[in-house]
Amino acid sequence: MRVATRALAAALVLAAGLTLPGMSCAAGGAAGGTARPALASIPPAPLEEVPYVQTPQSVVDAILALAGVQRGDRLIDLGSGDGRIVITAARTHGARGLGIELAPHLIDLSNRLAREAGVADRARFVAQDLFDTDLSGASVVTMYLLPDVNLALRPKLLSTLAPGTRVVSHDWDMGEWRADRQVVVPAPNKPVGLERTSTLRLWIVPARVDGPWTDPRRRLTLTMKQTFQDVEAELRADGMPVRHLGGTVAGRSLRLFAIDGGPLVRLNGTVRADRIESRLSMGGGAPRRLALRRD
Ligand SMILES: C[S@@+](CC[C@H](N)C(=O)[O-])C[C@H]1O[C@@H](n2cnc3c(N)ncnc32)[C@H](O)[C@@H]1O
Repeated sequence: MRVATRALAAALVLAAGLTLPGMSCAAGGAAGGTARPALASIPPAPLEEVPYVQTPQSVVDAILALAGVQRGDRLIDLGSGDGRIVITAARTHGARGLGIELAPHLIDLSNRLAREAGVADRARFVAQDLFDTDLSGASVVTMYLLPDVNLALRPKLLSTLAPGTRVVSHDWDMGEWRADRQVVVPAPNKPVGLERTSTLRLWIVPARVDGPWTDPRRRLTLTMKQTFQDVEAELRADGMPVRHLGGTVAGRSLRLFAIDGGPLVRLNGTVRADRIESRLSMGGGAPRRLALRRD
């Protein structure tokens, strides 16, 4: 996908007769006799897929508030520009931050601004492609990228971030992965767009619960089908279908209830890798403890 984006960008640049940094076009010549380079002869261009556009400081503050950033958090900003999100997270919220950025001059600028803000020990910047970055230690990930880049990143976010990690995207969504919260904030100093507002979306990375789970005596089986944070489940007792449940998984917190029109069934659980500690109440009865293991 990324190669395709680069090839398309290269084609557009050629069509427009433009030259981008890092791309040398041996075009030129008089009209009529112009020898344009064949596409195949263009070297792979180190294009930045996402242009540098600053998030206004008031919107940075709103992003960090939406993510609930606090001391102890480890924030990664993917495509960190001048480092303002990482620096503000360190200076105002006491978090540790890592900015990932392709452009070396922006890394230099970020390091200087972090020193001037007195947070160089908690705000680090690395010149790296965000797709090559290890995200596993983050408790918060922020990004101001583009829709197709968000979609390309989505599998990595879901597979490598710990359940409960908060992800905030400025302006762009994540396709079918519905945001858990969304706010629109004023952005009077925004350098792009006509509306002068920013849409901020928050996702809580869901624990992975897809598949069958059973109790230790293997009498109850809960088979879950997960689509991002949404869950549908079939509850079986001694192999017989009992109830059809639906609900959500927010971080490690699983909430299911009956969706088949029968008497109330409610299951509240905490997901821990290969086990779920839960409480199950059926037909309005008192909740009883139910420990489930991956089958
Ligand atoms: C829209 S700017 C956002 C800057 C900053 N996060 C902010 O909100 O002010 C996107 C940034 O991502 C950087 N970028 C683009 N593609 C990247 C990649 N593949 N890896 C790392 N950084 C990238 C760009 O250089 C640019 O600085």
